[in-house]
Amino acid sequence: MTGTVRINRFLAEAGVAPRRKADILVAAGRVRINGNRAATGDKVDPTSDRVTVDGEPVARIAEKVWYLLNKPAGFLSAVTDDRGRRTVVELLPPTPGLFPVGRLDREVEGVLLLTTDGDTAHRLTHPSFGITKVYRVLVAGNFPDSVIRTLKNGVDIAGHTCRIIDAVVTGRDQTTTTLELTLAEGRKHEVKELIKAVDRLLLRLERISFAGLTAQGLKPGEYRPLTAEEVGRLRELASVKDI
Ligand code: URA
Repeated sequence: MTGTVRINRFLAEAGVAPRRKADILVAAGRVRINGNRAATGDKVDPTSDRVTVDGEPVARIAEKVWYLLNKPAGFLSAVTDDRGRRTVVELLPPTPGLFPVGRLDREVEGVLLLTTDGDTAHRLTHPSFGITKVYRVLVAGNFPDSVIRTLKNGVDIAGHTCRIIDAVVTGRDQTTTTLELTLAEGRKHEVKELIKAVDRLLLRLERISFAGLTAQGLKPGEYRPLTAEEVGRLRELASVKDI
């Protein structure tokens, strides 16, 4: 089955009860899936399964929309801007409730998800979920292993220890180094702050992957809808725990 969600999430998103109360309804035997008594942790396919609570059918979750945009430079990761600057939603089909999942700075290009699924989006951007992102960075000068080790061990940024998970040097010339940095944090300006913390000058920043999704085949400004499998995987990643 593709695009399944846990029964407690399904009930929460359908407005029946918040997730913990939904668990209680399930445990009390008041919830049925296709006529069978539901158990805690059961999964449903919102597009095809029939769910009832106390015998009353629960309306299926409205289809949530998910896009992957290869964000071009010059667009704000926002829905609107009171200063009239261009925003990423202008690049997508007009969709009520569509917003970016987290943010890329205005001049930064690369993978940006947009969705109408607020709950999953919030979880995907919450630092405690540790969703991995890979950034390609171009820095001035060299970037020795000792600096990579410092970033792996963690540096203090405004009272938080921030670290990278991995770094791979993918290019070097006489004046610059290109690296791919993997992070699982989700803090504002995290790459800029990390590079600054090790006294390096960042020349260019691009996100090449978010939760394993890449912009392969998309030019800057182009987008595609996520597949049901991809959405299912994101929901899985976002459903590991309650926050
Ligand atoms: N880190 C930054 O500094 N900027 C971004 O846009 C993304 C990560």
